[in-house]
Amino acid sequence: MKIYKGHLLFTPERTGFEVIENGYVAVENGRIVGVASQLADLDIADGELVEFGDRLVIPAMCDMHVHAPQYRNQGMSMDHELLTWLSTYTFPEEAKFADTAYAERIYRRFVRDLWRYGTMRAAVFATIHGESTRLLMRLFHEAGMGALVGKVDMDRNCPDALCETVDEAVTANESLIAEFSDPDGLVRPIITPRFIPSCTPPMLEACGRLAREHGLAVQSHLSENRDEIALVRELEPTSTCYGDAYNRYGLFGQTPTLMAHCVYSPDEEIELMRRNGVMAVHCPTSNLNIASGMSPVRTLLDRGVRVALGSDISGGHDLNMFRIMVYTLQVSKLASVVQGVKPQLTLPEAFWCATKSAGSFFGRVGSFEPGYEFDALVIDDSGLNFDHYTLLERLERFIYLGDDRHIAHRYCRGMEIPEPKAD
Ligand code: GUN
Ligand code: FE
Repeated sequence: MKIYKGHLLFTPERTGFEVIENGYVAVENGRIVGVASQLADLDIADGELVEFGDRLVIPAMCDMHVHAPQYRNQGMSMDHELLTWLSTYTFPEEAKFADTAYAERIYRRFVRDLWRYGTMRAAVFATIHGESTRLLMRLFHEAGMGALVGKVDMDRNCPDALCETVDEAVTANESLIAEFSDPDGLVRPIITPRFIPSCTPPMLEACGRLAREHGLAVQSHLSENRDEIALVRELEPTSTCYGDAYNRYGLFGQTPTLMAHCVYSPDEEIELMRRNGVMAVHCPTSNLNIASGMSPVRTLLDRGVRVALGSDISGGHDLNMFRIMVYTLQVSKLASVVQGVKPQLTLPEAFWCATKSAGSFFGRVGSFEPGYEFDALVIDDSGLNFDHYTLLERLERFIYLGDDRHIAHRYCRGMEIPEPKAD
C-alpha cells in the first residue's frame, strides 16, 4: 500500500474540477483504494507515505489517436489536404517501416516522447507491417505504459508497398493477437482498418470478424475531410452515411470503437455513434494543419456521444496533450463565433475529455476515485508559480504554458514509470 500526498486535481464530472488541497490518495495493486483530505479519513491501517509537498497531482494523459510511424514527419509537410497529404507525404514514410531497424529508431523516440509529455495511455496506429508493429508493442510493454496498438489494414488506393492481401492482414493480426493475449495486459492489439477509402469490402469484413471473434476494440477515421466523404459515398453507395458503412461491417460499436475526427458527421451519424457507444476522438491540431475543418465537439457532447482527444501526429504537430486541450478550447471558441456552436467548451471539459472520458476506453482510468487505476502525473510548476495563484489557476497556467520540464513523476497503473531509452 502506498499513500501519496499532494494537491489533487481531477474531473469526476465534466462540469468541473475537484480540488483537494494537501490531499491523500491510497493505492494498492495499482488501483486507488481511497481518496481523502485527511489521512485519518482514509481509514487505512498502514502504508508507505510518499509526500509531494506543494506539487499538483493530476490524472495522466490519454492520447486516443496518434500515428507512431508518422513521427519523423511531425511538424512539417502540411501544405495539402487529407487525400493528397496521404499520398504525397504519409504513405512514402509509412512504407519505410518494412525495415524493422528503421522502425525501432523512430518508435523508441516516439514512446520516449509520449512518456516525456505525461501520456501514459494511447491508442496508436502503426503500419501494415506486422513485425514493426510487434516491436512497437514490445517497446510499450517494456516501458510499462498502456497502449492499444493497431497493425494498420489497407488494400486499395495506396502504393504497392502498403498494399496487402486480406489473408496476409488476417495472419499478421492473429500473430499479434496471440502474443498479446492477456485481456488485462497494458498493451493490447486493436483492429485498425485505416479508413473506408483504403479498405475493400472483403478487408472491412475481415476486420469486423477479427474484432468480433477476439473481442477486440476497433479504431479508424470518420468524416474528417469533404473530399474523403465524397469518395466514401462513391465507394459505398448504399450506405446512408460514412458511419453506416463501418456499421455494416461490424466496425462501429459492435466492440469498443474509436473514430477520429467526426468533423462533418451528419445528425444520423451522430445518433448512430451515441446509440452504439462509439467514442469520437477530437484532433484539433490535425484539423487545423491539414485544413479539415472544425469539429462541433459541443454538439457531440450534447447529443450524448463519448468524446476523447488525440494528437493525430503527423496531421497534428504536437504530442503534448495539455496543448491539445488548449487547441480544443481555441477551436471551440472559433466554432462558437463562426458556426454558432454554443456554448464554448470549458477547461474542465477539455481536461475531462483527455482523462476520465478517454480513460473509460481502458476500463477505470483517468480519475482519482476508488477502483480507478492510479495513472498520475506530479507537476512541479514552481517555475510558473511566482505569485499567489490558486491551485486551479496553477493548473490552468501549467496546461497553457507548461511542458515536460514541469512533470516530476509519471505513474501508470500504480507503477512509477522511468524514462524509456530512446537511443
Ligand atoms: N485518414 C486515413 N489515414 C489518415 C492519417 O494517417 N491521418 C489522418 N489525419 N487521417 C487519415
Ligand atoms: Fe489519423
